[in-house]
Amino acid sequence: MEAIVKDFPNVRAVDGGRFDLRAGEVHALIGENGAGKSTMMKTLYGLYAPEEGRIVVRGRSFEALTPAEAIALGIGMVHQEFMLVRELTVLENIILGFEPRKSGGRIDFAEAEARVRRFVDDYGLHVQLHKKVNAISVGEAQRVEIIKALYRGAEILILDEPTAVLTPQEASRLFEILKTLTASGKSVVFITHKLREVMALSDRVTVMRQGRHVATVDVSATSIPELARLMVGRDVFLGVDRSGHGSVGDVALSVEDVFVPGDKELSKLRGVSFELRRGEILGLAGIDGNGQSELVEAIAGLRPVERGRIRLGGREIQNRRPLEVRAAGLAHIPEDRNFRGLNRAMSIEENLAGMAFRRAPLSRGPLLVAGALRRFARRLIETFDIRPARPEAATAHLSGGNAQKVVVAREVDEEAQVLLAAQPTRGVDVGSIENIRRELIRARDRGAAILLVSADLEEILSLSDRIAVMYEGQITGLLDAEGADEESLGLLMTGGALP
Ligand SMILES: Nc1ncnc2c1ncn2[C@@H]1O[C@H](COP(=O)(O)OP(=O)(O)OP(=O)(O)O)[C@@H](O)[C@H]1O
Ligand SMILES: [Mg+2]
Repeated sequence: MEAIVKDFPNVRAVDGGRFDLRAGEVHALIGENGAGKSTMMKTLYGLYAPEEGRIVVRGRSFEALTPAEAIALGIGMVHQEFMLVRELTVLENIILGFEPRKSGGRIDFAEAEARVRRFVDDYGLHVQLHKKVNAISVGEAQRVEIIKALYRGAEILILDEPTAVLTPQEASRLFEILKTLTASGKSVVFITHKLREVMALSDRVTVMRQGRHVATVDVSATSIPELARLMVGRDVFLGVDRSGHGSVGDVALSVEDVFVPGDKELSKLRGVSFELRRGEILGLAGIDGNGQSELVEAIAGLRPVERGRIRLGGREIQNRRPLEVRAAGLAHIPEDRNFRGLNRAMSIEENLAGMAFRRAPLSRGPLLVAGALRRFARRLIETFDIRPARPEAATAHLSGGNAQKVVVAREVDEEAQVLLAAQPTRGVDVGSIENIRRELIRARDRGAAILLVSADLEEILSLSDRIAVMYEGQITGLLDAEGADEESLGLLMTGGALP
């Protein structure tokens, strides 16, 4: 891809973008939120026609590709936000639009299944072909997307932040699959914010900043600090400063012997108890699907509690409606920004004010205060570095990481007694991770009680004061963060006990 320019209203998303891909390589594409990574690759996949530049695939030159041309050229893409049809089965999703037919025109499901099984076997892409997509895990849905691309003949596979939604275990499984794919000559474009993954998995890496090509380097000739500097344009402090931790106060949230129905058998909560105090961050670690999501939803009033008590600031809140729970002093960064975090039909400003508009200074009685909303939005946009920095911009067009920042900003700014932070830095670039983590520590130091749920053990270890480990719907360990390490947590997370 040479000298690519792609404009959207009010923004030049790609401005002289350059990218080349060799057969059999994993090529990482990195850059800050909004740098133009997704746009660049959507151009290669034929979803956008660039204003300028050209795309050369195996010697054939194009000004723009259509999706059909891209597929015919062997280009496949797995998007940042999955695009499967939830009501169809895995097999139906894979063959959708490319169904083998019997003479007479009916879909030949036996033939389809045989073809799909070859990819399952050749690349170790284990999936349950006859399950509906709404009944499978995120990791499995991603494998379905990969098989779908391969089924359509992909030789070039673009993965847009594939590990953002995966547990570390699922991610290593994905890496094995990618190795098998490249060993057979296929090429992989790998968009990620996790520099450790870039170093571990890729051959080369391209860095974009503000739509421009910054550098393409061999991974063997670079380092994490150098990549971070290339992305952000300054040195990035990759740790968190936790000094100044004040004293831990009263119990803000107590969960007593709580039983909650689960999405799966393993994720039913079976007698969960813990206390969360003001001025502390309690990290909740665990392999995804062991009840963490159910626990957060039960506290937030989004899932029924069958037995047990949840108290917030002394008031019982189990089985109350979400708004009542919020009124009692809860803020919630949900794990899925699109499903529960944002109203994508509204602007950045409207989303930021989603709770705050109900009270001063944004409103007085039933009336909104002129100008206050704009000032409020500008302040949060600046603190959390939301781009574009225009309050009236639509959230529907935000890059993934910037959408996440809107949700985090709104919830942290609530200054609630209790903050449930589920995957707060999912999809966010290194500079903004630094920012969000600092704001969480600040909230804690102000006296907030924070329950941090993260699939990222490094995040749990660097932010938490205490760590609880969930396994099969129960808390199997509760330890001081001081002295905890990835190994001991890993052991607890897989059902083992500490020696
Ligand atoms: N469909 C669209 N309409 C308008 N603007 C868009 C559209 N898609 C992207 N943009 C804008 O283009 C810029 C680049 O966005 P893009 O999604 O490519 O970023 P990204 O590098 O993938 O970021 P992230 O890491 O957050 O996913 C951003 O400013 C974004 O707001
Ligand atoms: Mg993106």
